[in-house]
Amino acid sequence: MSTLMHYDTNDLWKIEQVGFDEKFLGKTESIMVLGNGYLAVRSSEEESYVGETRDTFVAGTFNAFDENEVTELPNVPDMLGMNFVLNGHVLSLIQGQVSDYSKKLNLKTGELVRSFIWKKDEVVVKLTFRRFVSKARLHFLATQVQIENLSDQPLSVKVRSGINGQLSNEGSQHFTDGEKGLMEGRFIQMMPETTQSKIQFVQTSEHRFEGVELTENRPETARRGFYMNYAFDLNGNSSISFEKRSSIYTSIDKELSSNKVEDMRQFAVAELISLEELSFDDLLSESAKEWQKIWDKHPIKIETKNFRDQIAIRFAQYHLHVMTPAHDERMNIGAKGMSGEGYKGHTFWDTEIFMLPYFSFTHPEIAKSLVTYRYLGLDGAHKKATSNGYEGAQYPWEAAWPTDGEVTPVWGAADIVTGQATKIWSGFIEQHITSDVAFGIKQYLDVTGDDTFAREKGYEILVDTAKFWASRLEYNAKQDYYEICDVIGPDEYKEHVNNNSYTNYTAHWNMVYVIDLVAELKEREPQVYAKLDEKFDLKSLVQTLEEKSEKIFLPQATEDGIIPQDDSYLSKKVLDLTKYKEADGVDSLFHEYNLEQVNEMQITKQADVLLLLLLFEGLFDKELKEKNFDYYEPKTTHDSSLSLSTHAILSADLGKLEKSYHFFQQASNIDMGEYMKSSDPGIHAASLGGIWQMIVFGYGGVRIVNEQLRIEPHLPKEWNTLTFGFDYKGQEITVEVRPDHFIIEKSGQGKAIEFTSKGKTHKLNDSLTIFY
Ligand code: BGC
Repeated sequence: MSTLMHYDTNDLWKIEQVGFDEKFLGKTESIMVLGNGYLAVRSSEEESYVGETRDTFVAGTFNAFDENEVTELPNVPDMLGMNFVLNGHVLSLIQGQVSDYSKKLNLKTGELVRSFIWKKDEVVVKLTFRRFVSKARLHFLATQVQIENLSDQPLSVKVRSGINGQLSNEGSQHFTDGEKGLMEGRFIQMMPETTQSKIQFVQTSEHRFEGVELTENRPETARRGFYMNYAFDLNGNSSISFEKRSSIYTSIDKELSSNKVEDMRQFAVAELISLEELSFDDLLSESAKEWQKIWDKHPIKIETKNFRDQIAIRFAQYHLHVMTPAHDERMNIGAKGMSGEGYKGHTFWDTEIFMLPYFSFTHPEIAKSLVTYRYLGLDGAHKKATSNGYEGAQYPWEAAWPTDGEVTPVWGAADIVTGQATKIWSGFIEQHITSDVAFGIKQYLDVTGDDTFAREKGYEILVDTAKFWASRLEYNAKQDYYEICDVIGPDEYKEHVNNNSYTNYTAHWNMVYVIDLVAELKEREPQVYAKLDEKFDLKSLVQTLEEKSEKIFLPQATEDGIIPQDDSYLSKKVLDLTKYKEADGVDSLFHEYNLEQVNEMQITKQADVLLLLLLFEGLFDKELKEKNFDYYEPKTTHDSSLSLSTHAILSADLGKLEKSYHFFQQASNIDMGEYMKSSDPGIHAASLGGIWQMIVFGYGGVRIVNEQLRIEPHLPKEWNTLTFGFDYKGQEITVEVRPDHFIIEKSGQGKAIEFTSKGKTHKLNDSLTIFY
């Protein structure tokens, strides 16, 4: 455990790494990633170190390295690295003496500032690097470098900086070199192309030295790079600064009038020229203004002495916007956002169950783009269903380009016992993703009331997924019921199980919902009905859905009130997990057991039955929830970052606020905490969505139950006030929660909003105060 992370009580917008340690490069590379949903860059140091992971990603540019590998988000040539030679000494923080090292991310503006003092022999310098990825111009990123010579002797400075294509995704090189070029004597350009998907990139960089007499200004091409070499002298006790401005365009960018490489090259240069009048600070403040729009939309304020709780929600929102390609509905959110190579940039159920709610409730236009992605994914989902012998839309466990279908890799890390690669079964049998997508769509519709999306796309997804489930069910003649065998539920430590409750109940919901929907559409929206009927032959589909849904096996509670996670779980051996739960990091269990052994014990990786109880709360009473919480939580390792937020919300619902708050703090520390290794492959996107959910769903008590808004706040005792807001069917609601009451307000003149709280129905016209 290292304590390099620092949070300042007086500035709840900043996170800081204090001191440099080359063992922990991954932590702040990842948790301080910069981006705007179009592109993102890990916050690596400018100078290189062994052990760094220098990544730049552009959303949606998936490529398969070779035919045996699945498609992944390629690591684009780096535009931020720079090497410095000062009086002949190569700048490196593992040599010489380093003091005052700070790397600080301002969540409010998206600016990263890194500074330190470096002494090596006679050299004493302070370097300050400022950088940002523009939120105002999706293709643009910039760095400003300030070098202060702290000695009274002159300093000779050499800088090598450019575009470095020698990078890869852990060795997989996704690009062919492509052309390189120098435009107007100062814009260096590289035009790499992805090897299989043939996406063309135009990367342009320009360096700006003003008022500096350069003794060298020399371009240098390399096989996989294009650099500029600069040299200048700095008098004693003086400083200079220079800038590097860059942009990235690709042949899949939607908004360009031409995606031909030649045109993109001209366009990129013209854009950089057009920005010449603007200073680094102008460009940064233009970007900060865009960030401010996000902060102004439903700001969350927590009055508490535990100031990190306030930073945690800002940290979560910052990342949710960095990682979400809101500009293009052909793209979705990766399980690590765009902050690392983990999970290859792929989209999981993490989107619908963990991140989408944030957007549906606070940025419906972004949510719309995310749900549209699933509509565009219907082709891929049909492909998957057909190849498995099913009908309808079976969503891929991992998704990339929406029409690609399943992209889960088949083989994973080596098994510690057998030494053989482990087969990843999720792509074959983790099937609950299909009802998760349906759930996300339904929640989006309930919250936003977006009828147009419903008519044009949403209902179709819901019907198509229900059709899949109808074909997926297996008839068990002995029991005379339909069941779902050989699956993985949310708990990935149980493979090949029968009748995972989460899967069966959510499939059942999907089917029954569609039966009602079709009946309603027939009455209310004959045109929509007719369109769907043409595609699905609704009468016969509904008949099948009715027959089968009536006979689905829905595992019932045991005498002790426990919903079995699956057919065999409750008969397995129990292991005391205390020591594994207390260990730093996750997966400590796997230092002693392999997956096959864990499969045979009552050990759960992440909320499974408990997630079902949370998402479908109307189906289960409080006593049952309590019993299941007490049963399953001790058996849950929380090895998946998707687990803690569910536990925090459910325990808040059950009035176990102390426990809940403990989960909240653990969950907020997954990336932001002091543990320095957890974020190496990238941040935990779903857990960041979970932070918003814990606050708004857990402590704000907001929920949609049976299409009805409910607000039942519970404030942890550590908080004095919680203020938050959300959009509901086109109107804006603000809630201020205090220990014994809450004030709820609606802005605008729209019609009254009905909601329930503790069993009572309220009508909100403009403002209401409700005592508990
Ligand atoms: C979890 C899955 C999750 C995936 C991506 C896995 O470790 O078990 O539920 O979808 O990570 O975040």
